[in-house]
Amino acid sequence: MTVKEIFDTMDYGPAPESDTEAQTWLDRHGRSFGHFINGEMTAANNSFASRNPATGAELAQLSQASAADVTAAVAAARAAQPKWEALGGPGRARVLYALARLLQKHARLFAVLETLDNGKPIRESRDIDIPLAQRHFYYHAGMAQLMETELPGAQALGVCGQIIPWNFPLLMLAWKIAPALAMGNTVVLKPAEYTSLTALLFAEICTEAGVPTGVVNIVTGDGAVGELIVDSEVDKIAFTGSTAVGRKIRQATAGSGKSLTLELGGKSPYIVFDDADLDSAVEGLVDAIWFNQGQVCCAGSRLLVQESISDAFHRKLKARMDRLRIGNPLDKCVDVGAVVDPVQLNTIQSLVAANTAGQLYQPQIEMPDTGCFFPPTLIEDLHPADTLMQEEIFGPVLVSTTFRTPAEAVQLANNTRYGLAATVWSENVNLALDVAPKLAAGVVWINGTNLFDAAAGFGGVRESGFGREGGWEGLQSYCKRSAATKPLTPAVAFTGNGAPASGLDRTAKMYIGGKQTRPDSGYSQAVYGPKGDLLGHVGQGSRKDVRNAVEAAAGAAGWAKTTGHMRAQILYYIAENLSTRAAEFTSRIDSMTGAASGAAEVEAAIQRLFTAAAWADKYDGQVHGVPIRGVALAMKEPVGVIGALCPDEAPLLGLVSLMAPAIAMGNRMVLAASSVFPLAATDFYQVLETSDVPAGVVNIVTGAHRDLAGPLASHMAVDALWSQSSSPVSQEIETLAAGNLKRSWVNNGQGLDWMQDHSKAILQEATEVKNIWVPYGE
Ligand code: NAI
Repeated sequence: MTVKEIFDTMDYGPAPESDTEAQTWLDRHGRSFGHFINGEMTAANNSFASRNPATGAELAQLSQASAADVTAAVAAARAAQPKWEALGGPGRARVLYALARLLQKHARLFAVLETLDNGKPIRESRDIDIPLAQRHFYYHAGMAQLMETELPGAQALGVCGQIIPWNFPLLMLAWKIAPALAMGNTVVLKPAEYTSLTALLFAEICTEAGVPTGVVNIVTGDGAVGELIVDSEVDKIAFTGSTAVGRKIRQATAGSGKSLTLELGGKSPYIVFDDADLDSAVEGLVDAIWFNQGQVCCAGSRLLVQESISDAFHRKLKARMDRLRIGNPLDKCVDVGAVVDPVQLNTIQSLVAANTAGQLYQPQIEMPDTGCFFPPTLIEDLHPADTLMQEEIFGPVLVSTTFRTPAEAVQLANNTRYGLAATVWSENVNLALDVAPKLAAGVVWINGTNLFDAAAGFGGVRESGFGREGGWEGLQSYCKRSAATKPLTPAVAFTGNGAPASGLDRTAKMYIGGKQTRPDSGYSQAVYGPKGDLLGHVGQGSRKDVRNAVEAAAGAAGWAKTTGHMRAQILYYIAENLSTRAAEFTSRIDSMTGAASGAAEVEAAIQRLFTAAAWADKYDGQVHGVPIRGVALAMKEPVGVIGALCPDEAPLLGLVSLMAPAIAMGNRMVLAASSVFPLAATDFYQVLETSDVPAGVVNIVTGAHRDLAGPLASHMAVDALWSQSSSPVSQEIETLAAGNLKRSWVNNGQGLDWMQDHSKAILQEATEVKNIWVPYGE
């Protein structure tokens, strides 16, 4: 080839990275590995092969952990935890820093091993996976250092079970282990069965870094080992992987009190407006869908292009696809490497083969003869309901459609059960910043894509899971603020058979969509005082009442768009109106409970309303400094429609304590009043009615919590469900919550002291952080 020809084609020659060091490391271990438990590698047992997907060559034999192995790992982590936490933040910071340094020192070995094991191009493992993993440890060394001053009162959760996928093996390990260790937890981590080697190398690094014995434990094996960890005596499960498995884990941990974070799948939109820099947008798309062969949970796999530029954009895109190089992942000039395993390749092939919609484009590029390779693929002109527009393919396959207006772009983008990430390309800052908040996603990138950093939280909404990894917001998943609780026994209503003291029959209605409504069932129940005196009747709520209330709440979405200042005004107004009726509420509470606690409850409820009003315009997000040309705006967004089963111990204060912070942040609520003392709640809607609360923002239903919990937990339009009920409904709620993966906050039979102020914790439950990456500076 002449120099002129080289310039004409701009073709690169092969530039393979040597794998000698990685092969030597494998040889040193006899290509056979056990688990890392209590600081030691166990003997290999019950082995299976780990292969290089680019060649099919066996790299090593790994061990499938037994129940005894998992128990031993959890016991080691449990024994090590108190001392690790007691070491203090600065002590732990030193260890995390040592880990970061050693990851840096051995970066090349990690990168080559990752590429051999996973099939991803060395360019990516070398320049993205491994540096980001290091960065995570550096960043969280800092978090450990700052924990005591910046998170006063925060405590470790204990032992964390962590289950990670195969797409970013070391990076996902770093995302899980670094924050856990920083906050004083110990871990039992299971890498994915296809890609365990860098986790085992990391185990060696732990010893070198002086991580105390038992603080980090790594067990290998398939999903069965994952199930053993989920069922073991851990305090938390952190999972990244498929939505199907995430759902199973939600069900398996329901009612166990184990803390849970799920980072699941996605079908992230990539929106290109007509004023975008098209060449940049095409280049971004290469990173969005062909990075890591599209095996990225937040891959920009759904291209939405404005109709007027669609032809031009698709032309440019295809021309770029024609130039992609697919092949030996160790070649530094390769753009697209191997898919992780024949099983995953088969999934991708089957999904594409089954599709008959749209037009398929695959470039005529040279493909390797063997190994798990799938060509870069585009399928144009799909309809929103087509399977491939909805299902996660997890491969190098892009689907596309067009839109005409920004409103249609938002509608199409949100037309998915997922909500992980979204990308917006436009040169118009007004347009981009108008669209970003409207997208149902945990992460939004503007004029960029697939950007990650330890300082910016990552995670989804809807069926993409819950919890964040990275940033200050990620720490919430690894520490707790202890609040005293006491075991609850189900509250029992007083009985009686007397006539109403006043001689008048009063049946309180429910409060749905700003209106007083009769129960759909037509049935009501009597509420008696402690001496058997009839205080009134309330409706027995049913599934249909719940449905109506949820629909009313969903219809009041405009509340989220009001300003914090406006919501504060309304909360102050509620407080004011409650205070003018304080005597009436006091006697109502006392007559229901027989305790003389009414006055204190009413006073505390007014305080909670004031506190929520105070926070409404102050519970701010943050601007994260990320080491790229930009910043990440960490915006606190309302969760959406929140259902809450209110405490029986404090019939007014409990309800107000849950409601006030939630509506302060823009949520809408369906409140199930205390089952046994409901009349303070039904009186309270008269206060709401006179306080300018828009219809549908707060809805109050009455009836037995055990009857209302199921309909609320299984309703697809409820985004979060809280239970502070004395009825034992926590397990049912968390099991049914798996349906749409709604967030849950349940008491597991442990009651809070409502005279204490829990507003901060409730504000946290009532919000979700969205990180919007915005170009900034140069
Ligand atoms: P997966 O969800 O089965 O595997 C992820 C991890 O969970 C692995 O460590 C696996 O051993 C473990 N696991 C599997 N079953 C388990 C169970 N019942 N309990 C506890 N742990 C369990 O993902 P898989 O099968 O490897 O990939 C299938 C699809 O999942 C992909 O095609 C893709 O759509 C999606 N996926 C999404 C990822 C993400 O980052 N969101 C990552 C990997 C896969």
